[in-house]
Amino acid sequence: MSTTLSAVRVTDHVYWVGAVDGQLRDFHGYSTERGSSYNAFLVMGDAPVLIDTVKAPFMDEMMARIASVCPPETIDRIVSNHSEMDHTGCLPEVIARVRPREVLASKNGVAALSAHFGALDDVRAVADGERIDVGGLTLSFYETRMLHWPDSMVTYLAEDKLLFSQDAFGMHLASTERFDDALDRAVLEFEAGKYFANILMPYAGIIPRALAKLSALEFSIIAPDHGPVWRRDPRWILDAYARWSEQAPTRKAVIVYDTMWESTAVMAQTIADGIEAGGAEPKLMRLSEHTRAEVATELLEAGSLVVGSPTLNNGVFPTVADVLTYLKGLRPKNLVGAAFGSYGWSGEAVEQLNEYLRAMKVALVSDGLKVAYVPGDEDLEACHRLGRTIGAAVLERAHAEHRAL
Ligand code: FEO
Repeated sequence: MSTTLSAVRVTDHVYWVGAVDGQLRDFHGYSTERGSSYNAFLVMGDAPVLIDTVKAPFMDEMMARIASVCPPETIDRIVSNHSEMDHTGCLPEVIARVRPREVLASKNGVAALSAHFGALDDVRAVADGERIDVGGLTLSFYETRMLHWPDSMVTYLAEDKLLFSQDAFGMHLASTERFDDALDRAVLEFEAGKYFANILMPYAGIIPRALAKLSALEFSIIAPDHGPVWRRDPRWILDAYARWSEQAPTRKAVIVYDTMWESTAVMAQTIADGIEAGGAEPKLMRLSEHTRAEVATELLEAGSLVVGSPTLNNGVFPTVADVLTYLKGLRPKNLVGAAFGSYGWSGEAVEQLNEYLRAMKVALVSDGLKVAYVPGDEDLEACHRLGRTIGAAVLERAHAEHRAL
């Protein structure tokens, strides 16, 4: 391993010793066009602590960065905030090399590590709120269950007012820069929102409670396990999480569709025109051009989900079924919607789309609109009318939300 791989100093006591994965394009189904990083940190009191590790193929990169700060065998403890494999894949090997005094995880984390790797030496569960001295510095641990796994916890370094937040407040973004203040703000905000939508949205209901629990701590720096360290304005990402977790309806209507011979595409465009005529903001997303993760990102701050599919072999077009399966798992809230699509002779897709939307608790504004083969003038008027109905419903909800503020 090259000796040019060095740690990056975060504070007087903390170093980033993670790995950058610029080639990553898919993270368990989430498209990652900008790659990612797996962040690990060294806390350098008199007894060094390694906070989290990296995905298995990147272990040598992490070890080289650690060695630029201290001999790895001097690490006294390892903290495992979260047991998903992008942060623990190399943990057994690291333990074998470093032989730390103990490995600390939440109670559920200890069980998850055992389920993944079998018995590991000297793994100990920390209690929620437990505080320990690590060679003159103070670490405390706070469970954040289901954000986003049952084992998840965060670690706080009191002397530096620094929160090691594991996946929370992270993003998939590979870069040579390690801090938010060195990166393009628009990219940061987009990727942070995309991460929330694709990883944390299912747990939006419990995020305010977690934020309230952490609000007793004073942060200057938030160091997540992916993407940059927040040091310029950590308040921004905390406030964004509070806002995103509400999923308040906006004027945006996301129209997700695919098409066989352009008929469903023509319907989608006409519905979009109707939505705009109704005063709302259509966002057309053809699935041959957009990934499921991009659709989820658009839905994070939207008021409507409108879905179109042709009928193919008595069912929904595969790309549309794919994205609906994915979105259903993410449990977006506070949406109105409708289904539409063209068909040849059977036309089951629209009712099947309705079933998906009902299962997602999307409030349907129509029974759905289906058109045989190619839409004629009357069909297009019906599409425009449906768009106006959606637009009016979206506006009403967005205004009601605004009045409630
Ligand atoms: Fe970055 Fe849930 O692992």
